[in-house]
Amino acid sequence: MTKLGRPHLHYATLGSTNDRAREVARDGAPHGSIVTADNQTAGRGRRGRSWESPPGQSLLLSVVLRSAPDLLTLRVAVAVANACGEDAQIKWPNDILVNERKVAGILCEQEPGEDWAIAGIGINVAVDLNQMTGELHTTAGTLGREQSAIGPLRDELLEHLDAALRLDTAELVKQWSARDALTGHRVEWNGGTGIAAGIDSDGRLLVDSGSEQFALDAGEVSLVLGA
Ligand code: BTN
Repeated sequence: MTKLGRPHLHYATLGSTNDRAREVARDGAPHGSIVTADNQTAGRGRRGRSWESPPGQSLLLSVVLRSAPDLLTLRVAVAVANACGEDAQIKWPNDILVNERKVAGILCEQEPGEDWAIAGIGINVAVDLNQMTGELHTTAGTLGREQSAIGPLRDELLEHLDAALRLDTAELVKQWSARDALTGHRVEWNGGTGIAAGIDSDGRLLVDSGSEQFALDAGEVSLVLGA
């Protein structure tokens, strides 16, 4: 039995489950507390982007973690990929793809000097892609399950997360690498281009440019898949 998931605060509509989780963490919520919502009006993604989710069709979950382990985003990515199924792949740093489309996103947040971290996870469980706006029509994916699958998937994910939080670094990198969508593919970032060659034990993306190898830090680079 996982220790994650209690207490559970659920809302029909929230701005952002991550924002609410940060509030309850600041107020002393224990390790494993979760915040979920059927609908977010201000869902947040990485790099200041918004996260779109048609109401009632996604798992929108934030987990309060106290004394979070290192390599948290790698751990959460492994857990989410495991929950999404055998075909799920991880596009560094932590987009979850099925059939090359993004079905889940992860936003881990910490505050300097605080003893908590928030693992925010959005999974397109039963999303009608026709309700997605703009370019998400062509880039977003869905697990194609029923809305009734959202609750069971949450419980399954929390079990996977509990397990991933306990992995030693070597096993974590091994499990992450088994899901790696990028290895062997050309990637471009603000600074160069090269062929993705896995991750190092700090979770940095290794890229071969031909003459040298770079280690890219997720906080510093914006990555696109090259042709
Ligand atoms: C990304 O891919 O850019 C990360 C998206 C993370 C979205 C989830 S949905 C639940 C939680 N609450 C938020 O506001 N964001 C995360």
